[in-house]
Amino acid sequence: MAPRILADRYRLIAPIGHGGMGTVWRAADGLLHREVAIKEMRASPELDPEKREELLARTMREARICAALSTHPGIVTIHDVIQEDERPWIVMELVSGRGLDRVVAEEGPLPPRRTAEIGRQLFAALDTAHRHGVVHRDVKPANVMLLPDGRAMLSDFGIAVSDSEDKLTLTGRLPGSPGYVAPERLRHGVRSPAADVWSLGATLYFAVEGRSAFERATNASRLTAPLEDPPDPPQRAGALRPVLNGMLQPDPDHRLGDGDLDSALERVVNGSGTEDLTPTQLDVSGALAEVGTNPGPARRPSGAAMPAAMAQPGLSSAAGPGRLGWTRLVVSVVIGVVTLILAPLLVEFLASMLIGK
Ligand SMILES: Nc1ncnc2c1ncn2[C@@H]1O[C@H](COP(=O)(O)OP(=O)(O)OP(=O)(O)O)[C@@H](O)[C@H]1O
Ligand SMILES: [Mg+2]
Repeated sequence: MAPRILADRYRLIAPIGHGGMGTVWRAADGLLHREVAIKEMRASPELDPEKREELLARTMREARICAALSTHPGIVTIHDVIQEDERPWIVMELVSGRGLDRVVAEEGPLPPRRTAEIGRQLFAALDTAHRHGVVHRDVKPANVMLLPDGRAMLSDFGIAVSDSEDKLTLTGRLPGSPGYVAPERLRHGVRSPAADVWSLGATLYFAVEGRSAFERATNASRLTAPLEDPPDPPQRAGALRPVLNGMLQPDPDHRLGDGDLDSALERVVNGSGTEDLTPTQLDVSGALAEVGTNPGPARRPSGAAMPAAMAQPGLSSAAGPGRLGWTRLVVSVVIGVVTLILAPLLVEFLASMLIGK
């Protein structure tokens, strides 16, 4: 079969991998005589022509914005965006590395110090983008590329259509990446630099623990878990644990960011962070209550450890009984009161029946 040529210029060689939005290809740029990576954006087959046009226009617009960021060493460069088959194809720098998801799957979790080093590079890339008014919106292990020389890069910068509603209507896929979407974004759709920091925290948690911070049986429960539960207790994070704690705070106002985050990660890289190997729960309980997820007790004083039993998956949120729990409580109280009032009447009625007989 003749090789597919796009825009009279890019020859598709072979697929590199598949993601939620489509396929990434290795390709040859016939004009500049270099290899590139091309992301083929797939739209949901049910998408009407108007929505299809919208996806195209938005991808072109966002790619243009992100092209301006491409000079940063931690951001995968976007070279070009073309339209073929009424779909956008994003031409990028071909990165000779592996996704963080693959690295962890093949080699196991990374040491805290190496994870912190990666975190610093990724945060520097994010910070640059945030200063340009661009948010990533889909920070997750598969969008982190690790290069053989130790560098870490972020791909899919801003081009992923990952707003819940948009992703669902435009691509037919689940909104966001389950376990990597910040609670305030799930709740209010807020796309902000702080939401990117939360996703970065979840990504670093995955790197150092070798598993998601919210392991659940289904994608749907993984997606909503950050609204209900604190992250599963880390076992291997060591000195990185307090940093993850700061990054994964559900309340964006209490989340680590800016210079504080970089210096906290730097301390872990330099070995001057607090070594803490206790596999206890991250302390995000007060903040969970504060964002209004649960009508539980008031904020836990900062620094107070959460009882280990509360950290068990399957129990209701660490911040209190949860909405369902409160409903059950009210129903039980009502049943109790009604029983107390009716019981003597019932006894009297039965007694009169028996005596009557
Ligand atoms: N510029 C690139 N150079 C080399 N490999 C890349 C590049 N961009 C992506 N890849 C690889 O291609 C594969 C598919 O990437 P893709 O972005 O489609 O997947 P995803 O991030 O899991 O999904 P999505 O971002 O669409 O939700 C991944 O293994 C990724 O590591
Ligand atoms: Mg990707």
